[in-house]
Amino acid sequence: MNIVLSGVKPTGIPTLGNYLGALKNFVKLQNEMTDYEFFIFIADLHAITIPQDPKELRANIRNLAALYLACGLNKERLTLFIQSEVSAHIEMGNVMQSLSYMGELERMTQFKDKMIKNPNGVTAALFTYPALMAADILLYDAKFVPVGDDQKQHLELTRDLANRFNNRFGDTFQVPEILLTKVGARIKDLQDPSKKMSKSDDSQSKGCIYLLDPLNVIKKKIKSAVTDSEAIVRYDVENKPGISNLMTIYSAITNLSFSEIEKKYEGKGYGDFKGDLAEIVAEEIGKVQEKYNQIINSKELDEILNQGRERATQIATRKIHKIYHKLGIGRF
Ligand code: TYM
Repeated sequence: MNIVLSGVKPTGIPTLGNYLGALKNFVKLQNEMTDYEFFIFIADLHAITIPQDPKELRANIRNLAALYLACGLNKERLTLFIQSEVSAHIEMGNVMQSLSYMGELERMTQFKDKMIKNPNGVTAALFTYPALMAADILLYDAKFVPVGDDQKQHLELTRDLANRFNNRFGDTFQVPEILLTKVGARIKDLQDPSKKMSKSDDSQSKGCIYLLDPLNVIKKKIKSAVTDSEAIVRYDVENKPGISNLMTIYSAITNLSFSEIEKKYEGKGYGDFKGDLAEIVAEEIGKVQEKYNQIINSKELDEILNQGRERATQIATRKIHKIYHKLGIGRF
């Protein structure tokens, strides 16, 4: 069985960055890779590595499940599940922690960034988070893991851990490969294009588009995105990061290349470009929201999650028993 696996943390409503870097890409890959099974999960154990309001978290988990389906994932070829409902993730996380060195976890840039921002607020679980992420992937012997650019380092660690285990205990894990989104792997904040668009930022932020923002708010955020004074639609990340980011969003949705977009807007200012982009994004997200509204309160959503939990538990439990046996623990 060939598996493609990925997950998203339910820490708030997913952003346009999550959509273009991950969700939309999952759908595209699912349509292209017809021989593969897709395992997509809600990484709620990862969410609690930073403080969460339980009521909001519960709602965000359900929202994310509905949004996955609303983006167009085909439920017939999908195992959709909630990470905390499959206890083998925690068990495997412990195995991966026992295999990881402090030094390699300390090198993770996401951890380092958080340490710089808030040194006293970093939990032990945030530190060991990449080991849990490796567990998520290796439990299912995923062959491909589609993620945005910011997860690359975690994927490299996962590959190292898989190889380390295989070398010590014999061939056990598929060594996974990263599948980066071609366009949209790193969507930037609309107000500060030097940083990535991130859902952990302030929910009122004008620089971040949330998938459940009202469409008029989405349009407004795009129209007020920071650009430069040259007023020429040209892709140049170094010197024109704002417009380049908007062009990336444009390209990821329409499939037009950067040079096609440049040609289309030759002689026109940023106003025309932003106006069109606002419509394009609102139309795309509008379709997702429409489906989301049909799914969010449906029984079907729970049925899909129940089936996902069963299938994931079956595979993951078998795998963790095999791993315990190889390690010499328990009586498996
Ligand atoms: P998370 O929840 O931070 O992000 C989910 C996915 O969205 C991508 N992404 C972006 N892509 C483009 N531009 C952006 N601005 C942007 N922001 C986020 C991320 O790269 C990711 O693909 N650790 C993971 C969740 C996870 C996971 C896993 C993923 C846990 N276990 C196993 C894959 C496999 C995370 O925090 O993603």
